[in-house]
Formats: sequence, structure tokens, C-alpha cells
Amino acid sequence: MTQADVPLIQVNGLEKRFGANHALKGIDLSVAKGDALVLIGGSGAGKTLILKCIMGLIPHSVGTITFEGDDVDRFSSAERRRFLDHFGMTFQKSGLFDSMPVWQNVSFRLLQDGVMTGTQAREHAIDRLAAVGLDAPTADLYPAELSGGMQKRVGLARAIANDPDILFLDEPTAGLDPIMTNVINELILDIVERLGATVVSITSDMSSLPAISKRVAMVHDGRIIWEGPTAEVNECDNPYVDQFVHSRAEGPIEMAVRAL
Ligand SMILES: Nc1ncnc2c1ncn2[C@@H]1O[C@H](COP(=O)(O)OP(=O)(O)OP(=O)(O)O)[C@@H](O)[C@H]1O
Ligand SMILES: [Mg+2]
Repeated sequence: MTQADVPLIQVNGLEKRFGANHALKGIDLSVAKGDALVLIGGSGAGKTLILKCIMGLIPHSVGTITFEGDDVDRFSSAERRRFLDHFGMTFQKSGLFDSMPVWQNVSFRLLQDGVMTGTQAREHAIDRLAAVGLDAPTADLYPAELSGGMQKRVGLARAIANDPDILFLDEPTAGLDPIMTNVINELILDIVERLGATVVSITSDMSSLPAISKRVAMVHDGRIIWEGPTAEVNECDNPYVDQFVHSRAEGPIEMAVRAL
């Protein structure tokens, strides 16, 4: 295998247990540079966990994760820091610090690393907020003063604050109105094209799929049960994908709900 063939991120046999809960049961996933992959799947399937394990936010139980061919479990603390510098992530719940104004949230890592003064970091935050459709006065508000959709956008501004080349986006448009959903999808696309970034997103919004992905992987019960080009997802004959994509209540994906 030549260097050019080495995937950016390669996951093999990834498993995660929380006590009796075998949450990931052997994930194999390859992400190439410039890829735009979306993970879909029902609630609790393991989507968020896959992203968190790759970044090392949650330690995995079994399996290997390599970055540009190097095993991330063997990284020194300096290598680990460099590895994380590649990433920008948005969290399903915005994950903002309540005690800090928006601009400090957006420029958090830059302030922490001491690469910018407070004034520079505030200007930088205002620039990134503009990119997600938020005006300068928003910079001085606190997260509790924002609507849910605004919090989502601040989370995205924070994810792109360091010019990352890999974006992990967990439900970036959930709770946004259709217009803002399109604005955010276009922004994601723009980042991918302009920065040549690699994006792995999680979404339940099937209408966003063609805009933000080239490839789709369906996660079910801790496994990837289907993977293919986005163009094939609507016509896919896999019954799990078919049920999910067409929002059918009946099908192999069972939701543990009990009738009242
Ligand atoms: N920190 C944690 N501690 C214990 N269990 C966890 C933790 N994180 C996830 N799990 C469990 O792992 C499984 C997968 O969770 P995950 O968050 O990946 O689901 P998901 O596919 O992202 O679902 P959703 O669409 O609802 O966000 C679930 O059974 C969940 O309870
Ligand atoms: Mg999730």
C-alpha cells in the first residue's frame, strides 16, 4: 500500500461495552481524505459513540483506530494533541460552556492555547459567527440567552474556529428551520470544498443527505449494516435502510415503545 492509499481514518473491529450494554459490536469504517460521509441510524444505534471513540473522548474496549496509518492508541501526549488539532466537532447537545459569553466559547481553544490575545480572539469569533449567520452582538450573549438553533450555530462556529481539516458533526441541523438547515448545509459544503476538509456527519434529516454527503453508512445495533454512495440510498433494497430513509413505522428497526 502506498502512502496515497492509506486512509485518513481506519477503524477495525471497534467494540465498546458499558457494563452489560454492548453498544458497539465491531465497527469497520474507512474514511478517505476529502470524504463526506454521513452516518444514519435509529436512536441508540451507536452513531455518536463511533465519533467519540475515534476522537478518544470515550475509550474503546476492543479494536484499532488508525490515523494516516498510525495507531491512535500508541500516540504520545504531544502526538495526541496534534491529532486532535485536525478535528472540529459539534455535539448533539450544543455542549457550550454556560458561564462564558459566545465569543469565548467560539474561540475557546485559541484562547486556551494562547495563540491569540483576547481582542483578536473576539474578532476571530465574530468572523466565524458571521459565517454561520449570526451577527456581532451575539458574541457577547451567554448560551442561555440563545435559541436552540442559535446554540447549534455557535457550536458550528466553534468547530470551524481552528480551521480544522476534519469535521465531525453530530446532528448539525437538528432543530433548525428549513431555511437555516439549507444555510448550514451549504456552509458545510463550502468548508469541504474550500478547505478540502473531510466531514463525517450524523443526521436524521434525509433531505440534507444529498447536500452534505457523498457516502452513507447505516448503523444499527452497534454495527454498520449498509454502506454505499448517497445516490443509491433512496433505492436501496436493504430493509433497514429502506425503513429509515422512508420513515416507515413498520419494518425491521423496532423501537422499544409500549402502547399506553
Ligand atoms: N457515556 C456513556 N455511558 C454509558 N452508555 C453510553 C454512553 N454513551 C453512549 N452510551 C450507550 O451507547 C449506545 C449508543 O449510544 P449513541 O449515543 O452512540 O447512540 P446514537 O446512535 O447517537 O443515538 P441518537 O440518535 O439517539 O443520538 C446507547 O445504548 C447508549 O445508551
Ligand atoms: Mg447521537
